[in-house]
Amino acid sequence: MSTQTSKRTALVTGASRGLGAAIALELAASGVNVAINYFNGANLADDLCQQIAERGGRAAAFQADVRDEAEIARLVREAEASLGAIDILVVNATGPQPFQSIEEQTWRSHLDQLEFFVKSPLLLLQAVLPTMKQRGFGRVINIGSEVFELGNPRFANYVAAKGAQLGLTRSWARELAPTGITVNLVAPGWIPVERHAGVDQQELDAYTADVPMQHMGQPLDVAKAVAFLASDSARFITGQRLAVNGGNTIS
Ligand SMILES: NC(=O)c1ccc[n+]([C@@H]2O[C@H](COP(=O)([O-])OP(=O)(O)OC[C@H]3O[C@@H](n4cnc5c(N)ncnc54)[C@H](OP(=O)(O)O)[C@@H]3O)[C@@H](O)[C@H]2O)c1
Repeated sequence: MSTQTSKRTALVTGASRGLGAAIALELAASGVNVAINYFNGANLADDLCQQIAERGGRAAAFQADVRDEAEIARLVREAEASLGAIDILVVNATGPQPFQSIEEQTWRSHLDQLEFFVKSPLLLLQAVLPTMKQRGFGRVINIGSEVFELGNPRFANYVAAKGAQLGLTRSWARELAPTGITVNLVAPGWIPVERHAGVDQQELDAYTADVPMQHMGQPLDVAKAVAFLASDSARFITGQRLAVNGGNTIS
């Protein structure tokens, strides 16, 4: 399966670490110029740009809070000035995801998640859409989650926001289908990243016991799926939810 995407430019939000960093590396390896958005991790983002450059790729780092309209406008302006018009938008950034009972949840705690998974995707898409439409090409890839299918307890704000993100994906896909712009969602299972460093083995084992493939996935598994959807090979695929979770949500 070819993942030829050379000479295109991607913007990956929240790419200083975790899944976003793996996605940025994989897109760069497929020949795409990558705008790496970060929030606090300037050094990590710079290191990633350097790694990509050492491997012959092209990347630049851009600080922005992707929950803020003016910062998104600046981010897209700076990224396009540096690397060219955005062909591939990967909506990946996330803030903290605390577990809370229904009694502990508030409207604010729901808005905290909706800002990342509804507000930010909308504002990002609106910022890149005019040039995608002009060129008749675009790839929008939302990073969702399996939690919407699983309905994890004590997590309703995050689960609801991830469900809303899937709704955006499907509606945008239909609306944009005639324009050459595809919109898909990659739904990872639990993929340990830096922030899971303190999780004990028992918790990991309890999760994998229910996973048909019986092991955890790796950031590269998600990155490969994103690179495929970003590529010319995926030109006839839109409005889809691609689960990367060892079969955990087979229906
Ligand atoms: N890992 C998993 O198990 C898993 C499973 C299912 C779905 N997902 C989804 O995959 C995506 C990535 O998750 P992850 O686990 O890789 O997260 P992560 O390791 O916690 O990384 C979060 C990234 O988002 C950035 N970020 C935080 N607040 C931001 C803001 N206001 N503006 C811009 N960037 C911001 C962080 O930047 P700084 O570090 O620079 O501040 C960091 O690069 C999320 O959408 C998440 O819901 C993850």
